[in-house]
Amino acid sequence: MQTKRLCPAIGTEIVGVDLSNPVSDETFEQVRKVWHESNGLVVIRDQKLTEEQQIAFSRKFGKLHTLQGHTVTKYLHPDHPEIYRVSNKVVDGKPQGRKGAGTYWHSDQSYEATPAHASVLYAKEIPPVGGDTIFASTQRAYEALSDTFKAFLLPLKAVHSFANASGGGFRNEVVTKEQLDAAPPSVHPIIRKHAETGKLGVFVNPGFTAYIDGLDPAESRAVLGYLFELVTKPDYQYRHRWSHNDMVIWDNRCTLHYAVMDYDGKGDRLMHRCTVIGETPLPATA
Ligand code: SIN
Repeated sequence: MQTKRLCPAIGTEIVGVDLSNPVSDETFEQVRKVWHESNGLVVIRDQKLTEEQQIAFSRKFGKLHTLQGHTVTKYLHPDHPEIYRVSNKVVDGKPQGRKGAGTYWHSDQSYEATPAHASVLYAKEIPPVGGDTIFASTQRAYEALSDTFKAFLLPLKAVHSFANASGGGFRNEVVTKEQLDAAPPSVHPIIRKHAETGKLGVFVNPGFTAYIDGLDPAESRAVLGYLFELVTKPDYQYRHRWSHNDMVIWDNRCTLHYAVMDYDGKGDRLMHRCTVIGETPLPATA
């Protein structure tokens, strides 16, 4: 297995791994080590995978999310509910996935009590140009804070809300009252300790973080406004230009991502995503 760092802040490309064969525990641990050392992002190109093989590899990270009852349930793969399809393709009047999914800064399912851990995204079809995904390291953002501001943020918690997203990230979807009732807001530490590496990161995102618990609304807006600007700063980013059969794995505990919607009407994009359920976010003091 060879590795090539993609940019200083985040991301490594791994070469010499075939995910179509059952991946041994030893190989998986090597991939996971590189993933952690790269601030939670690896790219593995040229993988020829069936749905079953993507699911089997993704399960090595943990239990998979099947997004049951969610507004996006209709976009799950009809034979494999572990696969969420992101696509602008329409065949016989039927959307082949969710168009415009993730076209805003977020980490997957941060509004849940146990937000997503790994997301494993596989490029089935990509447009001739465009349709990139941008990733940002929230650990590098944390490192940039002054000690005084780190100490101020340390005890604070933020409210992450699916309802927040229904006016934003899910604005093009029909979100029912039942779906909103089934997804109450979650309160998570703003400074999150990574459960495996122990590294600290800023765990807020513009897509789902609604307000900071215990602050006056104007104070909350000001602090979140600053943190959103920080965590989406180009200095902490890597922009992935997809090729057919790329597999990209990100760690939602320490990264944010943004899917760029610049290709509609210019080509088809079809991505298969497996999402691993994570743990309750740890505070810095854990
Ligand atoms: C997402 O999982 O947010 C979508 C990412 C992408 O399609 O690039």
